[in-house]
Amino acid sequence: MKLFFLIFLFSLAPSTQAITKMVSVNGQPDTKTGWPSIVYSNTEWDDCVQKCYNDQYCDVAYGNSSLISVFYGISDFGFARKEIPSAALHRASFKLDIPNGLCTSKVDDLFKGTQSYDRNGIYDFDITITSNEYDVNYQYRDGCEKPFVNPCSTCSKSMYLFRGTGPPTHLGTTRDIPKWFLCVLQCSTDVDCVLAWFSGYRKCTMYTYGSFNSMSRSEDPAIQPDTPNYITLKIFPLKSNCPMTEHEVLNLKNMVIPAETTSGYADFSMTWIASSENIEFSWVPTEVRTY
Ligand SMILES: *[C@@H]1O[C@H](CO)[C@@H](O)[C@H](O)[C@H]1NC(C)=O
Repeated sequence: MKLFFLIFLFSLAPSTQAITKMVSVNGQPDTKTGWPSIVYSNTEWDDCVQKCYNDQYCDVAYGNSSLISVFYGISDFGFARKEIPSAALHRASFKLDIPNGLCTSKVDDLFKGTQSYDRNGIYDFDITITSNEYDVNYQYRDGCEKPFVNPCSTCSKSMYLFRGTGPPTHLGTTRDIPKWFLCVLQCSTDVDCVLAWFSGYRKCTMYTYGSFNSMSRSEDPAIQPDTPNYITLKIFPLKSNCPMTEHEVLNLKNMVIPAETTSGYADFSMTWIASSENIEFSWVPTEVRTY
């Protein structure tokens, strides 16, 4: 009886399960929309793919002939460009759940269907292949955690993402956080966090209201070897005065800080002159009431 039951289980399993595989193509995650979680140098492509497979926070690995190995979370890049095989050998490997038993001679077929994910704030994702791109679409568990799409929607706040160097790290609190989106999420859900900087790979420094007065903005989308330049800023725009450009976001005035914060500040303003790298912050303390 026991033996019969085991045979039954084994024969049932293969048709229903999916196997996680690394699917490699000639391609490169877009650097402008991409926020790598870690960068390794001197890594052969095979090792890079294997390391990504073993790393629960790696969903896509990128490597090239310079023996660089770059990991991305699925939520941390928008699309990968298809590349023609060349001396530079731009390769991307996607971690995908392939239905068991799927037999195909076309790599593109392996990308079909929705990938269930359900971790790190993401519910599921799918990849659309166009003539020049692998376009990744992912669903957030909580729509209000989606970084900056419509800042004046029904959500009370929005996380704006841009590049720059954060305030000195001793002014904030640094934690080990394995990927950029989780750093954004952590700052989003922490009532005292207004700004976070991925101050090292897999390091997230979070700053509270009033703890800094300026930071430096950059436009460089290149993959940084040691210190990423990823910044997220929590904004509270008014629907009546919705910022439409980066210039408007970084010049928002008198944003009301939620009352739950323990920071002691009531509102804040920003000033950024387009020709300058510097963003200035000013903080208005909560009135000290006497009764
Ligand atoms: C490989 O990627 C790194 C990081 O983007 C880049 O600095 C380097 O120039 C690339 N090498 C080649 C041969 O394209």
